[in-house]
Amino acid sequence: MEQYIEKLIEQMTLEEKVAQMQQISANMADKALRNKFIEMGTVGSFLHVLGSETADYTTPAENSRLKISPIFGIDAIHGHALLKEATVFPSQLALACTFDDNLLEEIGYATAKEVCADGLDWVFSPVLCLGRDLRWGRIDETFGEDYYLASRLGSAIINGYQKDNLVAACAKHYLGYGEATGGRDSYDTEITERYAREIFLKPFKAAVDAGCMTFMTAYGTIDGKPLTASRKWITEILKEELGFDGFIVTDWDNYKSLVTCLHTAENIEEACVDGVTAGNDMAMFTCDFYENTLKAVKSGKIPESAINESVRRILRVKARLGLLDGTRARPPKSVIGCEEHKKLNYKAAVDSAVLLKNNGILPLKAAKKIAVIGENAVSVRAQYGDWTYFSHPDPKPEATAKEKTYTLLKGVKEVYPSSEIVYSQGYSISGEETEDMFNKAIDTAESAEVVIAVLGDNLDWNGEGRDIVNPVLRGRQIELIKELNAKGKKIICVLVNGKPLVISELEKYCDALIETFNGGDMCGLAVAKLIKGEENFSGKLPISFPNEVGSHPNYYNQYEHWHGGRYKDAQKECLFPFGFGLSYSKFAYSEITLDKDEFGKDESVRVSVTVENQSDTDGFETVQLYFKDKVCKMLTPVRQLIDYKKVFIKAGQKIKVEFELPIDRLGYYDENCNYRVDGGDFTLFVSGNGKDFKETAFRVN
Ligand code: BGC
Repeated sequence: MEQYIEKLIEQMTLEEKVAQMQQISANMADKALRNKFIEMGTVGSFLHVLGSETADYTTPAENSRLKISPIFGIDAIHGHALLKEATVFPSQLALACTFDDNLLEEIGYATAKEVCADGLDWVFSPVLCLGRDLRWGRIDETFGEDYYLASRLGSAIINGYQKDNLVAACAKHYLGYGEATGGRDSYDTEITERYAREIFLKPFKAAVDAGCMTFMTAYGTIDGKPLTASRKWITEILKEELGFDGFIVTDWDNYKSLVTCLHTAENIEEACVDGVTAGNDMAMFTCDFYENTLKAVKSGKIPESAINESVRRILRVKARLGLLDGTRARPPKSVIGCEEHKKLNYKAAVDSAVLLKNNGILPLKAAKKIAVIGENAVSVRAQYGDWTYFSHPDPKPEATAKEKTYTLLKGVKEVYPSSEIVYSQGYSISGEETEDMFNKAIDTAESAEVVIAVLGDNLDWNGEGRDIVNPVLRGRQIELIKELNAKGKKIICVLVNGKPLVISELEKYCDALIETFNGGDMCGLAVAKLIKGEENFSGKLPISFPNEVGSHPNYYNQYEHWHGGRYKDAQKECLFPFGFGLSYSKFAYSEITLDKDEFGKDESVRVSVTVENQSDTDGFETVQLYFKDKVCKMLTPVRQLIDYKKVFIKAGQKIKVEFELPIDRLGYYDENCNYRVDGGDFTLFVSGNGKDFKETAFRVN
């Protein structure tokens, strides 16, 4: 393949090569310019094109001199969701609650089949940024706050996407994007190289190891240096040190932002010089890239060898997908939104719901009359979250849900056929709230035996470009629940939202609390069945819930603090920690057993623990293994997830869960960014809920 690519590059003119590095959007305002690029027949890639439109773009390429097919990229980040007929899976944050690598791989594979069948080649997924600052708008797109979980789930979904070379995956946004100061999207990330290696680089390294074919450069900067212009992060670390051999695309118009926003280049030509020599291989959207890069090569500011290297990488990915030799095979269109994927999606929705509180009201086997309350009980837009046909590529307020989508109201109606179900909106997250609306909901609930209140946020308050300072339940949501509680109603709250909100007050006034995040097409059916006890909860939080709006940082793997690590006016502990989630089963953990007490640096620790299901309900449990380096020359967190296993335990049964933990995974980066594994004492923790831990210690010599 490499020889074939070299021969092809030899035949290409400079113009043809630079055109391969250009990506053009189907939705750009200047249609004449877009059409000019399409007609060239040599442009490397297009984005935001749906399958039904690809022929317009491929025909000129088929008629071109070298007939190199463009690669079509799409934001299929929870299913091929920009296409209405496709399966809309739960968001990444929701899927992360499953702690289930196999499921993520299956979802990746199902998505890839739908994208490929539609005629496209490349998904801009997964997001490997960490969701550690709740002000940031894009928390919903992440796998949560922990780099280890993000590494495992990221690799799993990449394996699924790229199985049979159906599509190329794209690890984004490289690097540190979610950690921008103040949670302000694409602002500077004030982290050092050492800290980036310790935390943020790890999921991206895992993506390289999984063979991820493409990466996307973040909008932002690290310590003042734009990632787009950082030869160190892109070429030296990602390509040379980690060995990434695919291609790197910038994020949307990054080249222009170097000129107009970050002010590190005087003009687009200078931006192109900086970006191409840094190692970006493809320019997303910046239409001036083509002309200006050509100019810069001709004047010697960009060596042609840099262009050849980028083209080599792009062609390598195209070759892997079968785009160069006409061997690209596509599944039949009938896989799009098929029954099999619907079943998988139902499982994903069941497994991603997290039970946060249950005072015994659940399971609700039967009820004569159920009041379903809340705007989010009927809002598909809120339930889906970002990057679906409701929100992209342009906001589409007029979009209507496909019939098969289960909102909570629809799910409850189907699962409780003999109950009377009444509905009232009660509150509005973004719109006007009238007294009448509030009172109607109270009246509706009055005559019902139990209330299912569906609360949360919507796309006005989360998603790209929608950072907020107050992650709270907006409008009169809490007031409504308080009023219902004062009237003695039994309340089951279901949260439909893109990120953890401050729900410490809400938690006091409800009998049960279920978090779904953005649960996709099947969420309403899955949650209704969970409420009824026809399914069991197994989801665990991939992100901690704060007690107060200003509790930053709120993630679990913090350092110890000299003054006890708490604000004077807030509790130290968060409301619900990473790893938390209840079930209808009751699991009890034995003490931890290790094969030895002392280990050499090249050995592995064999850890085992017995988990017993002490209930009469079968269930899945996620057994979490954490560690702490007790004494280290650099700060180490209070605990760090290092492995997990999801196991099925039948009612009344016990199972032994074993982990093999290589000592060389317990290292850290020193001041000079060298990875070190020192000797000394370590603590291991095992937990099923991120709150209660079994603990043991061992020594490394
Ligand atoms: C986002 C990316 C996305 C791209 C293309 C950007 O605004 O940051 O995540 O892939 O647009 O739609």
